[in-house]
Amino acid sequence: MSVPIPQPPTIPFLGNVLAIDKELPIGSFGLLAKQYGEIYQLNLLGRIVYFVNSCELVRELSNDKKFQKSVPGSLNEVRSLAGDGLFTALADEPNWAIAHRLLMPAFGTANIRNMWDDMKDICSQLILKWSRFGPDYVISPTDEYTRLTLDTIALCSMNYRFNSFYSETLPPFCEAMTDFLKECNARANRPAIVQALMTSATAKWEADKKLMVDVASQIVKHRRHHPIEKKDLLNTMLYGKDPKTGQGLSDDAITKNLITFLIAGHETTSGILSFTTYYLLKNPECLIRLRKEVDDVTQGKSITLEHLAKMPYLNAVLRESIRLNPTAAVRAVVALEDVALAGKYAIKKGQAFAINNHAAQRDHKVWGDDADEFKPERMLDGKFEAMPPESWQPFGYGMRACIGRPFAWQEAQLVIASIIQTFDLCFNDPDYTLEVKQALTLKPKDFYIRASLRSNAV
Ligand code: HEM
Repeated sequence: MSVPIPQPPTIPFLGNVLAIDKELPIGSFGLLAKQYGEIYQLNLLGRIVYFVNSCELVRELSNDKKFQKSVPGSLNEVRSLAGDGLFTALADEPNWAIAHRLLMPAFGTANIRNMWDDMKDICSQLILKWSRFGPDYVISPTDEYTRLTLDTIALCSMNYRFNSFYSETLPPFCEAMTDFLKECNARANRPAIVQALMTSATAKWEADKKLMVDVASQIVKHRRHHPIEKKDLLNTMLYGKDPKTGQGLSDDAITKNLITFLIAGHETTSGILSFTTYYLLKNPECLIRLRKEVDDVTQGKSITLEHLAKMPYLNAVLRESIRLNPTAAVRAVVALEDVALAGKYAIKKGQAFAINNHAAQRDHKVWGDDADEFKPERMLDGKFEAMPPESWQPFGYGMRACIGRPFAWQEAQLVIASIIQTFDLCFNDPDYTLEVKQALTLKPKDFYIRASLRSNAV
């Protein structure tokens, strides 16, 4: 017999929309998970979505044969800009398969290693800027990391410099993207009739999209007219041919994928850097251990790729940080056939699911009673691989898993190691405890630090 899936009380027309905090949906999803357990359902303006919160159910949903990525809600709003680019493509769109086959090798570890000099270039801009700020300057790490990650993905993937560190305000592209993503979230939670009345918000949203398309298509045009010899992602897309069909990508498809890389590749990585900085400051014993590792390996020299390969604790710190706060916290799938989930929940083909990784990656059954605590030791090589794979999915799963994972990881390793090597850090407010803010991704809220050059540098 099928077990019913619990649901909070609904109200006419709106369903459960008012049960969700518009500023921090993930907070509401987490509270509902505490109340209802491994699975509950919400009526989101007439659309029924099953939210899953346990590793056991995530394991069942992580099966590309039975469940497929879907693009609902705010992601569907992003799709109005990024179209059939890799992130927002629907399962059967041919451009996804072509771009995926074309770009998988380009995003492979060997190619990402070739991007080292560009990554170091941008990282050294941040280090220099913080050095010049001095110990009294209040730094917003999330803003600084957003500059860094945007500049890094743009330089590495399309040889374009936003030069975000050289202006007081964020570049117009970045402002437009932030506003656009915020509005995508808002639009997804508005009834159609309310949305129709929001004409000025819609006009601004359209203007933001236009700005981003203009910048990206300009980059494509410029490269077409001024080709360069660089094995970057833009050249791969311009000149590469899909090994299976022999087809290439149109300039329009390339523009959409460039925008996709800029969106998917910067907020998420900025988030992992910000949360990691927070957890290291909150857990000084971990910071001391990490600094010792960095010092022992580098002996005070400029960090190299070879150094990073000898820093297991750094990996463990990053893994644990993104376990507690997966910056892309929820992914959506749809059932491809009728299934009995966990042998007891009767699921119909076409049913929509939201996989709440923020809850599942803290599943006490898998991670123990200290699941909510920051303990990098549990993520050291050996222990990490011994965990069930579905218990740690910050980069998604299967065919539609993150193509940018090696890129993001190398960048995060470099930046955290460089900061720890160079600065003594402290909270601006010693009593600060973590609050999370959410646009499309998660970041620490009102988090400020100060940085001074190390007193005991090696
Ligand atoms: C997909 C997370 C960095 C590009 C995804 C997905 C997740 C994710 C969870 C799957 C989404 C879904 O199933 O709907 C992250 C995190 C990152 C990160 C946590 C950093 C810490 C990057 C970077 C890039 C990138 C640096 C690009 C340069 C993409 C793309 C997809 C994707 C293109 C779609 C892949 C496909 O469907 O074929 N990412 N990502 N990501 N990510 Fe990332």
